[in-house]
Amino acid sequence: MNNFEFKNPTKIIFGKDTINKLTDEIPKDAKVLLLYGGGSIKKNEIYDQVKSALAKVEVIEFGGIPANPEYAVLMDALKIIKDENITYLLAVGGGSVIDGTKFLSAAALYEGDTPWDILSKNIRTEKGMPFGTVLTLPATGSEMNSGAVITRKETKEKLAMGGPGLFPEFSILDPQVIVSIPERQLANGLTDAFTHVLEQYMTYPIGALLQDRFAESILQTLIEVAPKVLKDPADYKAASNFMWSCTMALNGLIQKGVPTDWAVHAMGHELTALFGIDHARTLAVIAPSHYKFNFEAKKEKLAQYAERVWNITDGSIDDKAYAAIERTTAFFHELGIDTKLSDYTKDYEGTAEKISQRFTDRGWMGLGEHQSLSPDKVEKIVKMAY
Ligand code: NZQ
Ligand code: ZN
Repeated sequence: MNNFEFKNPTKIIFGKDTINKLTDEIPKDAKVLLLYGGGSIKKNEIYDQVKSALAKVEVIEFGGIPANPEYAVLMDALKIIKDENITYLLAVGGGSVIDGTKFLSAAALYEGDTPWDILSKNIRTEKGMPFGTVLTLPATGSEMNSGAVITRKETKEKLAMGGPGLFPEFSILDPQVIVSIPERQLANGLTDAFTHVLEQYMTYPIGALLQDRFAESILQTLIEVAPKVLKDPADYKAASNFMWSCTMALNGLIQKGVPTDWAVHAMGHELTALFGIDHARTLAVIAPSHYKFNFEAKKEKLAQYAERVWNITDGSIDDKAYAAIERTTAFFHELGIDTKLSDYTKDYEGTAEKISQRFTDRGWMGLGEHQSLSPDKVEKIVKMAY
């Protein structure tokens, strides 16, 4: 096992009817900017619950943060934060609203020329404006981690940021919120969380027995609850296990002491930036090709995953590893997720070259757990995913 340090300061408030606990978490003298997305919170009861919990503090609202939070929209929110002397941010939404809020938390205290530098120059945020979240969509884990991904339509870029100053102070996780989530987004959430675990697990064995079993248990739980969540989002037992699995998949715990990959996300983000494909779906497009291309380097963990997660026990290590990739692809299909780029766009020719060139331009010369995935290999993987 590798050496590691682990600190996660986010307070989780989990369970039925917990949104009213907001009242106790936000400082009484705060001036709050309440941030939300395209309005789903006004169609279910979440907005009303949040507003009544905030009755005693001063609140300004900013809605309209789109999926794949857009830099230009966030810059409008930043102006309000400065003009109104906001002191506390509250994100009510999924990964997009939470990530947008993290960007604002960093940008509000940033003293450089332009907040875009935080993304383009990968500047870590040591201290941000304090913020909390009310999660409405289990998927990204953003509610308990310190990362964010921001999109800029103008340049078709999607870049990551983060730093220890960007953990939410608290996150409220009421699994009942999933009843209003469309099936497509539920499938996305399951796929995203599943792939988060794979990115931190599908590398090479390092003797981290507990981390491996944490990872495998999250995968098994997601597989078990997936059909139940899709069939009936009001099934509280399934919803609560789904929500907690998504948070645990990316709150830092399972990646401690082990190598991590994250190349599937790096390539996937480009597909969202170029074509607007939902984040989770880009992962399902890239992951099978990535595991096939890097088969030799990953086959021991693939075979372990085959046995322990999918109960595939016949054959050699190679046989089991290959079967695991096929089973994973089938799982995505069972969720209603297509796994080829050509399923999403007819305009895919040249994509692999474009992504490879972008990685070269950014100096991303070696992705993956061995830092060996050079842009020419990225090009081959993306082509395999056409
Ligand atoms: O905008 P509204 O109207 O709220 O509708 C949203 C949106 O259309 C809707 N929705 C959310 N909660 C709902 C609901 N609809 C009905 N009922 C509810 N309770 O769902 C749609 C998608 O929301 P979004 O927040 O975009 O989804 P998700 O949580 O999947 O977030 C995706 C974003 O997170 C980033 C992705 O790249 C993408 O930009 N990621 C963030 C990560 C992180 N911070 O750690 C890691 C991930 O790998 C990922 O990259
Ligand atoms: Zn993801």
